[in-house]
Amino acid sequence: MRIGLSGKGGVGKSTISAVLSRSLGRSGHQVVAVDCDSDPNLGVSIGLGEQGAERIRSILDQSGAQRHVPTDLSPSELLDRYGYAAPDNVTVMLAARSEKAGSG
Ligand SMILES: Nc1ncnc2c1ncn2[C@@H]1O[C@H](COP(=O)(O)OP(=O)(O)OP(=O)(O)O)[C@@H](O)[C@H]1O
Ligand SMILES: [Mg+2]
Repeated sequence: MRIGLSGKGGVGKSTISAVLSRSLGRSGHQVVAVDCDSDPNLGVSIGLGEQGAERIRSILDQSGAQRHVPTDLSPSELLDRYGYAAPDNVTVMLAARSEKAGSG
């Protein structure tokens, strides 16, 4: 089952994603929650705290001159390398993280 949440800023996407993920995880599902927001905070919403959320590695590597996404990894390799364990049997993944985000 794949569930995608989108919507206008501040409507509750992260909150609902976190509650859904943890509820499904608690019911015994293996959940991978992927934050596709370039100013991500799903890790915090899901209960990792600010410091835990900061430790999630972004799949998009922006450290070099050119942005890079690994294309040679299987789904399980991607999970092993980038997945971060969260409460209630949820694994969080992060698509990208902006170095600096403005407001509005
Ligand atoms: N059902 C709800 N009732 C009341 N407040 C809510 C509800 N869902 C979320 N909120 C509150 O609204 C605010 C925005 O929620 P959230 O961060 O989940 O939205 P978002 O759509 O992910 O925002 P962004 O577009 O900035 O990523 C938060 O303060 C959250 O606690
Ligand atoms: Mg959000």
